[in-house]
Amino acid sequence: MSRSYYIAGNWKMYKTRPEAADLAKALVAGLRGGKHKYLVAPGFTLIETVAPIVKGTNIRLGAQNCAAEEQGAHTGEVSVLQLKDLGVETIILGHSERRHVYKEDDALINKKVKLALQHGFELILCVGETLDEREAGRAEAVCETQTVEGLKGVAAGDLNRVVIAYEPVWAIGTGKTATPEDADTIHAYVRQVIAKLYGQGAAEKMIIQYGGSVKPENAAQLMAKENIDGALVGGASLKTETFVPIAQFG
Ligand code: 13P
Repeated sequence: MSRSYYIAGNWKMYKTRPEAADLAKALVAGLRGGKHKYLVAPGFTLIETVAPIVKGTNIRLGAQNCAAEEQGAHTGEVSVLQLKDLGVETIILGHSERRHVYKEDDALINKKVKLALQHGFELILCVGETLDEREAGRAEAVCETQTVEGLKGVAAGDLNRVVIAYEPVWAIGTGKTATPEDADTIHAYVRQVIAKLYGQGAAEKMIIQYGGSVKPENAAQLMAKENIDGALVGGASLKTETFVPIAQFG
């Protein structure tokens, strides 16, 4: 079964509106005719600026998080209704920075996953171990728990709107990339977890992106691996000169 590649840029907390507009325009031009599926996830305040630029192109519009409640008295949070209103199609959930810096746990992430699916979004569920967990031989177990708990209560019929991103915490923003072999081992393991939960067919179709210091120099080797179906790119997604070659790898 051949899966299509999906390359996503997570802009994190970078860029102002003029900078975001410039980058989005350059990416639209640079990725025109590109063979893969693409996404950019700008910060919340940039979404309205980027939305009309990517609309109708081959670049999807993403957000980096959402609240676990539909709406209400939640100061500082952003609701799925507000994201839908802006034309957001995809929401990144459970990013390691949300888990580790902002202490989001699996139960909260699962609530967001279900809410996002209920509102028709595609989502990218991030999983990944810390260096301590890897050194303790727990990388697989951590990714399994995050996958199982994150997808609890998700119907098989909604799985085609779920993408998983394996982002080892120790590889994010550090310049250290997992070797293609190490990443592929975890991707294969996560795929087995999906097979146990939803069957082999669903597992074969699941897009599993790799994230963590993806660069133009290592993208092709990573993507060549059987179980690596794309990338969730942080730092290198902030410049056309680095994101376009990643997105057009090979
Ligand atoms: P870097 O590509 O900067 O390591 O970030 C990866 C990431 O966290 C993408 O979500």
